[in-house]
Parts: sequence; C-alpha cells; structure tokens
Amino acid sequence: MLSTTTFLALALATIGLAAPAVDLEARQQQTNILLCKRLDCSGEYYVDQINLPVITGQCSNVPDIFEFRPVDFQGKIRAVNSNGGTSCFLYDQEGCQGTRSALVLGGRVTPLNVAPYNFDNRTRSMMCI
Ligand SMILES: *[C@@H]1O[C@H](CO)[C@@H](O)[C@H](O)[C@H]1NC(C)=O
Repeated sequence: MLSTTTFLALALATIGLAAPAVDLEARQQQTNILLCKRLDCSGEYYVDQINLPVITGQCSNVPDIFEFRPVDFQGKIRAVNSNGGTSCFLYDQEGCQGTRSALVLGGRVTPLNVAPYNFDNRTRSMMCI
C-alpha cells in the first residue's frame, strides 16, 4: 500500500511532467497575419494582400507560392494586420535573420513606413508570439 507521502510525491511528479506540455501548446498557436502591399491593406486578395497562417514561436518566410498560386510579396510588404492577441516581429532576411522590427501589435492595420517600424518593403520573414 502507498503511504500518503509516496502518493503525494507521485502526484506532484505527474503534475510536474504534465505542465511543460500544456505550456508548449499554449505558446504554439495557429494564427494569421495579413500581409499587405498597400499601407491601408486595401486591394485584391492574392495580388495586394494575403492572410498567411503562422504558428506562434515559429519563423515564417514570406512565401513565393501561397495556396498553390505564385505570389509576389518579397520586399513589397508595406503594412500588416495580425489576428487580435497575436503580435509579430518582422525581419529583413529570411529565416528571421537580419534586422528585426519593433513588435507589431495585432488586431489592427499597421503601416510599416513610419517609426518605430521603418520597415517599408523590407519584410522577408516574421515571428509571431
Ligand atoms: C516601397 O514601395 C512602394 C511601391 O513601390 C514605394 O512607393 C515606396 O516608396 C517604397 N518605400 C520605400 C521606403 O522605399
């Protein structure tokens, strides 16, 4: 028979093992960021804007192919709008390398041609959190 102390120790060990998996799931969420070639995110879908699915905590490059279509957003992104609650860093090289932008808050269109971003036409990858 297990003593109370042994039982508590086992219970705590189980909780200790379970907690990191839950945290990891919380950090890695599927979300979206709208990439825009116009400062106000207007225009035609696929041509002027695409809504890129991203996973928080993972780097995503600006795609050349999106939903099986060739798209042309490399070096042309002028504004972004990530889902509310999702904030993103932009990078001027692929693989989240190079210069990193100021944190772009989600839930609204953010033109990138102004401070503190100064990232007009520069985004080649992004990391959302
Ligand atoms: C970004 O590209 C647009 C469209 O070509 C251009 O009008 C704008 O001046 C560019 N911005 C910078 C900082 O070069």
